[in-house]
Amino acid sequence: MNSYAPYSELEEYCLVEGSSGLFYPGTRIENISFPLTISAVRAAICSCLANNDRPISIFQNEPVSELLNFWKEEYNIKRIDTLPDSPELFDPLITAEIDVMSTLHDLTKYSVTPHSDFQVTALLETEMGYITGVNIEVSAWSLGLCAERTAISRAITAGYGDKLRRMHIYAPKGDFISPCGSCRQVLADIMPRQQVVLHHRNETSSTHFVKDLLPYGFTSSSLKRKK
Ligand code: THU
Repeated sequence: MNSYAPYSELEEYCLVEGSSGLFYPGTRIENISFPLTISAVRAAICSCLANNDRPISIFQNEPVSELLNFWKEEYNIKRIDTLPDSPELFDPLITAEIDVMSTLHDLTKYSVTPHSDFQVTALLETEMGYITGVNIEVSAWSLGLCAERTAISRAITAGYGDKLRRMHIYAPKGDFISPCGSCRQVLADIMPRQQVVLHHRNETSSTHFVKDLLPYGFTSSSLKRKK
């Protein structure tokens, strides 16, 4: 598992077991704007929910993720101290040839949107294949994840952080779909030189460089990455 914690160097990992028997890895994904950091538990649980699976247990060594108790209570998850000998890990990579637009459309059934009923799907193109993401809503609205960040946290955790090519985004109920400010900030930190392809409801698309989506974004040489 690969975390992205260049500001704190805090290596935070976990595995969440789904009721399917699959284990979903999660790692800490930091952002130069610290409050946008995704904890390992949040990443793993959202990855599990985004696969239409239900989290049932969690394995995490020290340091434990912030708000671990919230997540345990939210889904009635138990903490386990040992793992099976060779846990079957969820692999987010699609290596087959796919049609991007129809895959984005098919993914909408994986969105978890009890609050908004507004589905968003993402396909993160890497050098090896595609990684999917859908939006996940939880009772605490600020702890869910947008589709783009579900895909990004899955990709980094699985070790494709330096192999990212392009992000595709779709929302059937959106008009002109476009990533939210928080996702732009995360995209700018993780894949600043890459492009985002926006697939609109009227079947047109527009392609933008991430750096053009966040002009004058937050940065400071005194918040140096440690490695
Ligand atoms: N959403 C995304 O998934 N991506 C964005 O860029 C904007 C918003 C989701 C979050 C929430 O589930 C729903 O859309 C309404 O905000």
